[in-house]
Amino acid sequence: MLRIDFVTLFPEMVLEAVDHSMLARAKESGAVQFGAVNPREFTHDKHRTVDDNPFGGGPGMLMKCEPVAAAIDSLFPDENTAVVMTDPTGTPFTQALAHELASRPRIIFVCGHYEGIDDRIRTLYATHTVSIGDFVLTGGELPALVMADAVTRLQPGVLGCSESLEVDSHADGLLSAPQFTRPEEFRGEAVPDVLRSGDHGAISDWRRRQSLRVTRAHRPDLFWSSELTARDVKLLGALDS
Ligand code: ADE
Repeated sequence: MLRIDFVTLFPEMVLEAVDHSMLARAKESGAVQFGAVNPREFTHDKHRTVDDNPFGGGPGMLMKCEPVAAAIDSLFPDENTAVVMTDPTGTPFTQALAHELASRPRIIFVCGHYEGIDDRIRTLYATHTVSIGDFVLTGGELPALVMADAVTRLQPGVLGCSESLEVDSHADGLLSAPQFTRPEEFRGEAVPDVLRSGDHGAISDWRRRQSLRVTRAHRPDLFWSSELTARDVKLLGALDS
């Protein structure tokens, strides 16, 4: 069982999102529990202030330390808890990191807002500071939900068919091949013959070749970190002929 908590100024936003589709099923089956705490609940002033101006000047507001720290403390993180800060300056989220987080018993996602969070929260609490891509969102809730989704589907029993994990894009470092279901022809577009041939060797070659083709077209950078076999090199060569 995995417990995921969100530290967020918008708890309804994340708790509503986990009440649908696979995340809701994961919750119902007991594979994952979700919770959320709001730093605003841990303020003591009349205006329930959670933000302040940055030292040194600059535009926008920062989330203050005390309410965020008190919200994290209320969850009693221990040495096995991953405390993940969402931040566009973080390390990129990858399938490998999803696997690492999925092996923890507890994850706390700390969702930034405004121009970010006072950096002492990162120093004092974060085990990971993670970005979901080279773009800037208005808050950390969507990045946290993206990561929670990727981690939830890796929990045992959450996907109906665990083989799905093996054919995922990124599972072996490459993007996966295109897939088709019925009908065999749609608006003049036919399903590739080989997929209907029943020839498992030919299907496997076709899928690997497509995987290499899509990766070369969309994400050639992935070739740098994946080990291509002699068969792959041959299949790639066949793409050009
Ligand atoms: N907060 C704002 N933009 C973000 C991003 N790209 N990744 C993670 N957290 C963010």
